[in-house]
Amino acid sequence: MPSNKAAYLEKVHVSPFQVRDAPYTSPGPKEIVIRNRAVAINPIDWILQDKGDLTFTWIKHPFVLGSDTAGEVVEVGSGITRFQVGDRVCGLALATDKHYNRSAEGAFQLYTILQDNMASPVPATMSYEEASVIPLGLSTAACALFQRDVLGLQHPKVPTPQPTGKTLLVWGGSTSVGCNAIQLAVAAGYDVITTSSPRNFELVKKLGATEAFDYNSPTVVNDIVKAFEGRTSAGALALGKGSADACIDILSRCKGDKFVAMATFPLPDPEPTRLVLLQTIIYFVSANIRLSIKSALKGIKTKFINGSDLAQNEVGKAMFEDFLPHALANNSYICAPEPQVFGSGLEMLQAACDLQKKGVSAKKIVVTL
Ligand SMILES: NC(=O)c1ccc[n+]([C@@H]2O[C@H](COP(=O)([O-])OP(=O)(O)OC[C@H]3O[C@@H](n4cnc5c(N)ncnc54)[C@H](OP(=O)(O)O)[C@@H]3O)[C@@H](O)[C@H]2O)c1
Repeated sequence: MPSNKAAYLEKVHVSPFQVRDAPYTSPGPKEIVIRNRAVAINPIDWILQDKGDLTFTWIKHPFVLGSDTAGEVVEVGSGITRFQVGDRVCGLALATDKHYNRSAEGAFQLYTILQDNMASPVPATMSYEEASVIPLGLSTAACALFQRDVLGLQHPKVPTPQPTGKTLLVWGGSTSVGCNAIQLAVAAGYDVITTSSPRNFELVKKLGATEAFDYNSPTVVNDIVKAFEGRTSAGALALGKGSADACIDILSRCKGDKFVAMATFPLPDPEPTRLVLLQTIIYFVSANIRLSIKSALKGIKTKFINGSDLAQNEVGKAMFEDFLPHALANNSYICAPEPQVFGSGLEMLQAACDLQKKGVSAKKIVVTL
């Protein structure tokens, strides 16, 4: 049995992660174990370190975080037919999801359990670093776009189906989730209008967006409403601070579907320094009440999404089995945002999370293992 090591979050608010021996867990019938070679960092990693006591309250510490991984298969469960030992894969590690909730499924270690429906083969021409940027961005975007109780769009296919004639608004197209949302929507037959900083217009257009607008422009809402003239909305995905308000304002003035999927939870900015828990809860609750009233008055439906919910429904298989392997194999899916390799080894994960927290622009921080 391989000997495992993990970067443990000992407790909420405790930094750095502690690197030490960890159990190696064999896979259940519908699981595989991979030797992680590259893991990518997401905001949720440092959010859970800083505020896990407010958010994912089911997690018991010490715990192994990490959602995005790529590596090779070292063991397969008895019911697995899609993968063999030695296969190169990327996948969404589900440790922090309430339904799975165990360190064996965290990516911040050498060996991680992945659920069969949350892993995709990676072509030999693609590096693990590139592949590691995909899973959580794709999963979160897919939860928003394809779950029936959210935007309920038709699924992406290879080759791309006939155009639907509808346009999706992706606010925050240069985020990791946004880069995947643009590509998934286009591969499902939708046009995409998006926002980013001007320096990332070229990127979001390369990913398939028809038009891109600067989210910092004072006229951005009016400009997007104008761009929607003659178009029919397929709804909106709101990513980033202020995105939900803007998407509600825009869709209320456009023809078509009036549903905003929201991924960014309202948190106080700057962070309170006193009575942190109380102030954060008050801010969160009042921001939600205000958004609910505003969306109801404007006739817009809204829903917060959880980026790992697809593991429990048909969208997981639709993405990681039916779509992504084919899209990666024929080079029609771009690993975006680009990986920025920060270093190698479990010891680098804390500094990598700290760097992600400072803010990135169309980059995904990656650590090789
Ligand atoms: N609910 C869930 O399950 C779930 C899962 C994953 C992520 N999320 C949330 O989704 C959001 C995106 O996550 P991520 O990992 O994709 O982010 P990320 O890649 O770390 O985001 C970095 C990007 O954010 C963009 N940005 C900054 N402020 C913005 C704003 N006000 N409006 C639009 N874009 C803005 C920047 O764009 P420019 O450089 O172009 O300015 C930058 O490229 C975060 O709020 C994250 O917490 C939620």
